[in-house]
Amino acid sequence: MPILAANWKMYKTITEAEEWLRAVVGRPELKRAEVVVFPPLTALHALRGRSRGLGLGAQDVGWAAEGAFTGMVSAPQLRDAGCGYALVAHSERRRYAGEDDRMAARKIASLWQAGLIPVYCVGEDAAERAAGQGEARLRAQVDTALDGLGDELGGRLVIAYEPVWAIGSGTPATPDQAGEALSLIRERVEGRCGGAAAARLSLLYGGSTSPASARGFMEQPIIDGLLVGSASLDANSFLAMLEVMVHA
Ligand code: 13P
Repeated sequence: MPILAANWKMYKTITEAEEWLRAVVGRPELKRAEVVVFPPLTALHALRGRSRGLGLGAQDVGWAAEGAFTGMVSAPQLRDAGCGYALVAHSERRRYAGEDDRMAARKIASLWQAGLIPVYCVGEDAAERAAGQGEARLRAQVDTALDGLGDELGGRLVIAYEPVWAIGSGTPATPDQAGEALSLIRERVEGRCGGAAAARLSLLYGGSTSPASARGFMEQPIIDGLLVGSASLDANSFLAMLEVMVHA
């Protein structure tokens, strides 16, 4: 099944989140895709219990199970709130909150420990791309996050290739560019964790995707789905993407 994930970032009140959900829940397409919503934490509780056919996720997670970590929310707490997924090291967390690949490794381990699915976000920025360092950056992001996790993945892992230069720019990567980056990521994970890891790994593309561009990405065999920002905020545009994806 294709995966369609909505990252709402710091948008939507509880009422707006509920309205979106009412427009989406009950659609037959939900049975043909793995659909996950990453609302702001404030709306999680309201969506829980009404989100039939959809998975819920958090946009970040603390690396420890509990403790004196003001402002953080742990993986067991997210599970308690109804989450099955969490984003890890989104580029906006890397940029505004100083997250790095080592923190990502701890967060991924903590999510697996609590039985949640990490969606680990990687991608080079414009300067790295211009300097021809994009592939090296991706390799480092994958290697560091998997370092110390043992020879096998500790659970299911979703990796989203989100080139920083494409996010919010209105210009997505081309499907070929996304496919090449995700092939490199898959090779890296399998090289590090062995062939059995392949079955537990899903790969997404994210960055300025829209109903118009969704089909091109889904035609790449390596791409399992999309992580959508702005085009996910409007329920109709999100449903249009879902429609494309289940028929691609
Ligand atoms: P946009 O789709 O708004 O470019 O955002 C992508 C993103 O950051 C998803 O996590």
